[in-house]
Amino acid sequence: MAWTRRVAVALVALLAQDASAQTGNARGSDFLRFGCSQLVVERTDPIVNPGLRFSPHLHQIVGGSSFNVTMDPQTIDPPKTSKCTSCKMSEDFSNYWTASIYFQSPENGTFRRVPQMANGRQNGTLLEQEGGLTIYYMRPFSGTNKKTTVFKPGFRMIAGDPNLRAKASGPLVNCHRCLAKADRIMGGSGAPCDRSDTAEFPSKPCPGGIRVTVIFPSCWDGKNVDSPDHRSHVAYAPGNQALAGDKCPASHPVRIPQVMYEIMYDTSEFANPAYYKNGKQPLVYSFGDTTGYGAHGDYLFGWEDGALQRAMDALGTNCWSETCPALKLQSGEKLISCTKEQQAKEDVGTNTWLKELPGSPMIK
Ligand SMILES: *[C@@H]1O[C@H](CO)[C@@H](O)[C@H](O)[C@H]1NC(C)=O
Ligand SMILES: *[C@@H]1O[C@H](CO)[C@@H](O)[C@H](O)[C@H]1NC(C)=O
Ligand SMILES: *[C@@H]1O[C@H](CO)[C@@H](O)[C@H](O)[C@H]1NC(C)=O
Repeated sequence: MAWTRRVAVALVALLAQDASAQTGNARGSDFLRFGCSQLVVERTDPIVNPGLRFSPHLHQIVGGSSFNVTMDPQTIDPPKTSKCTSCKMSEDFSNYWTASIYFQSPENGTFRRVPQMANGRQNGTLLEQEGGLTIYYMRPFSGTNKKTTVFKPGFRMIAGDPNLRAKASGPLVNCHRCLAKADRIMGGSGAPCDRSDTAEFPSKPCPGGIRVTVIFPSCWDGKNVDSPDHRSHVAYAPGNQALAGDKCPASHPVRIPQVMYEIMYDTSEFANPAYYKNGKQPLVYSFGDTTGYGAHGDYLFGWEDGALQRAMDALGTNCWSETCPALKLQSGEKLISCTKEQQAKEDVGTNTWLKELPGSPMIK
């Protein structure tokens, strides 16, 4: 979404409108929204493949510099062990990551990593370099109960499933929006995963880029900071949209802030209509998915003690989006300077054409 209060208010209104049609209750969502620039792009994954240097597929990672191959939930302390964070909110040393997207040349079969670009590129606001992610922490509510309980140290979760190659049942939790040239800078408007978005990769060229949304669950079992599949300790609230559900099921009774990512991929170089003939499209996720249904995101909590709860409790008063006196902000220049060397060193095809995707995942 574009970074304007007007759009944000429209989103809240839209959610309220959708929901009130179903429930008769006014409901909406207050949120923090801020940019985090790229920390590193590499094949590591401390949630799914702890200890493995060269995890099976490539990730683009933002957040605290303590990001590492192993991040044991019992012992990690990101605010203490990070030297810096690539996020605008300087008390946030969490890590956020997603898969990368590649363009596979229909002419010769080689791969090039699709560049990421900043969302709402306005100096002094979301200043991001070579992409990064836009992060949301939302507080869904209905009526007057707005209480959310923030994550415990060590907490982690995954949204989406890299093994999916067909549309999952239920509300969309990951989606792609094909942007027109005019939406290139501000990222398009309208609610995430609405009718303009698709679970699969767009079937037509996107000269303004592709905006990918990843929506995390808003309910927690109240006990576990992780689970074997990194999903079952959290749940989406029942309903026909993943966003802004606030009525948590009995199995997962604790309402947590709803985390959402927006990632902007710059597909302008790859928008030749000739690549989109006969039902084909040229993009593939770094884990070999040519459908797009396997899009997913990983979250690892790492805020300084008390900061996120303070912000969530202040939302709706003078705290909103990237303006929140309850939190400390750092300059765009400072967050961009927070980067990490690859620990899993390899050419990821940012400026070169690769014969194979990093890790050579099966392409299907
Ligand atoms: C990453 O983990 C290794 C091994 O445990 C450790 O030596 C190193 O200091 C860690 N790096 C960071 C940035 O925490
Ligand atoms: C492969 O095709 C792309 C365009 O689709 C081109 O830019 C690139 O140079 C080609 N690489 C080789 C080795 O021919
Ligand atoms: C943003 O800042 C950079 C570096 O100071 C400058 O070159 C660029 O023109 C600015 N862009 C806008 C839109 O103000």
